[in-house]
Amino acid sequence: MRQNMPIVIKADGLAAGKGVTVADSMEQALSALSNIMETKAFGSAGDRVLIEECLKGREMSIFVFTDAHTVIPMVPACDYKPVFDGNKGPNTGGMGSYSPPHFLTPELAKTAAETIMYPTIKALDSEGRPYSSVLYGGLMVTDGVPRVMEFNARLGDPETQVVLPRLKTDLVDIILGVINNNLDQVEIEWSNDACVGVVMASAGYPGSYKRGLPVTGWGNLDEDIMVFHAGTELDAEGKVITSGGRVLTMVATGETIAKAREKVYNNISRLHFDGCHYRKDIAEIKGRK
Ligand code: GLY
Repeated sequence: MRQNMPIVIKADGLAAGKGVTVADSMEQALSALSNIMETKAFGSAGDRVLIEECLKGREMSIFVFTDAHTVIPMVPACDYKPVFDGNKGPNTGGMGSYSPPHFLTPELAKTAAETIMYPTIKALDSEGRPYSSVLYGGLMVTDGVPRVMEFNARLGDPETQVVLPRLKTDLVDIILGVINNNLDQVEIEWSNDACVGVVMASAGYPGSYKRGLPVTGWGNLDEDIMVFHAGTELDAEGKVITSGGRVLTMVATGETIAKAREKVYNNISRLHFDGCHYRKDIAEIKGRK
């Protein structure tokens, strides 16, 4: 069988963002299928697989709040799934993120909302399955046109860490609007500042990794740095130790993407745990300050 490469092999169930292989050859595709369906690397999430065309372009995550009738877009973000700089290595749940995407135009935001998110919420309602929550569209922008790679009935990680710091409205008011079916009464305001987040991961992630390593350096961070915990816990003395693959996301806001990025990378080496690795190219936009 001839097949245009690359092709995408996905475990159809939840696999913590690791169930996708972009296969450059038939051998890689068969090996990914065997890993999912025979070795059962993702358990029953791999009972079915999706084999899809590989979309080329720019990836963008978009989110809406909805009470099933009113749909309010959030600010979009870009996610970096491969573990290494230059988008090399296996996919992870996401190694960093920034908002807004530097290629976002008002037209692109409008097209994504009007051709993808609004019709999806409307279709769910007309099928008798009204959907009240947040909806996340994982898109690929190909030749200026957004195409759907996946939907999730949740926010994104690490996208949330760069989207919610830009929210000026109280999130509780929005959630109450969703729950009480009066989201049309809630005015939602966003900051114009950019936001950048870089994930600090355990050595070995997205493969196996050690846990229980002390995380130190908390007192050394600039005051306006945010650190979101994912794979951490407290030890018996109340000190922070690692307990997962993606351990922390360090986040900063700034007037521009470059300024927010600079703040994060100025601070990131001040926190320490053995074997910590992170991408150095998050929100690096060639030729832009
Ligand atoms: N960052 C990808 C996800 O949350 O699925």
